[in-house]
Amino acid sequence: MEETVAKVAVVTGAASGIGRTVAARLHADGFRVALLDLDEAKAVEAAREISAESAAGYRCDITDLASVVAARGRIAAELGAPSVVVNCAGWSVIQPFAKNDEAFWNRAISINLTGTVAVTHVFLEDLIAAGEGRVINIASDAGRVGSTGETAYSAAKGGVIAFTKSLAREMARHKITANCVCPGPTETPMLMVQDPQRIEALTKAVPMRRLAKPDDIANAVSFFAASGSGYVTGQVLSVSGGLTMAG
Ligand SMILES: NC(=O)c1ccc[n+]([C@@H]2O[C@H](COP(=O)([O-])OP(=O)(O)OC[C@H]3O[C@@H](n4cnc5c(N)ncnc54)[C@H](O)[C@@H]3O)[C@@H](O)[C@H]2O)c1
Repeated sequence: MEETVAKVAVVTGAASGIGRTVAARLHADGFRVALLDLDEAKAVEAAREISAESAAGYRCDITDLASVVAARGRIAAELGAPSVVVNCAGWSVIQPFAKNDEAFWNRAISINLTGTVAVTHVFLEDLIAAGEGRVINIASDAGRVGSTGETAYSAAKGGVIAFTKSLAREMARHKITANCVCPGPTETPMLMVQDPQRIEALTKAVPMRRLAKPDDIANAVSFFAASGSGYVTGQVLSVSGGLTMAG
């Protein structure tokens, strides 16, 4: 009898928040999961919580190409080459654009946009070889409709959306799909450090009258990662309780 080996999914930013929940959900869906993060100890701990056998945590700085290439080598040796890449690592601090300096906008763009481009490029060969690859980019509604105090971040996330659409066009002949999930305000460390008044105002603006939970976002990622979703590509799905209804 032929042994079935579980497919491998890579999730960046998987030590915390949405990425951590996405990794757990993809594992529950049957994937072996590689959890990549700047914070190695938390990535390893998150992986251990998921499974000692079929999940592993790796240190990876997505803004450093050599670090991404090194992580790819370790993943190939330890878990196998991935067919799914979820770009979830991100960074945002609320600050008026007029107060931003060069270091601030470079950070917003290098983590949220350039890092996503680099990780996708490094794993592209594996996705092509898989014959049915999936790229799922966690953008943001900020990239669709803007967000006060997150102007450079919004530019980066808008870039992620455009990148995903072009990638979907180029990679269709390899049966690789590329899609974006745009979370609205979601209960994670990134959001919960913000001013409580801003969080309250955001919650009130959501038609569903609650913040998203990481599970809400993971559910959408699970859909795009599924083998039955191979005809859905270049799409942008907001998971925001109706906060944005972009056409
Ligand atoms: N929480 C929200 O309200 C919200 C809304 C819209 C979009 N998002 C997006 O969802 C994604 C996940 O955010 P979250 O809320 O779970 O945040 P989080 O802060 O809980 O997790 C982000 C993770 O990314 C990691 N990271 C940061 N820089 C990195 C780098 N250079 N290399 C590798 N890892 C790095 C961090 O260490 C952290 O573990 C981000 O892309 C974010 O922009 C979040």
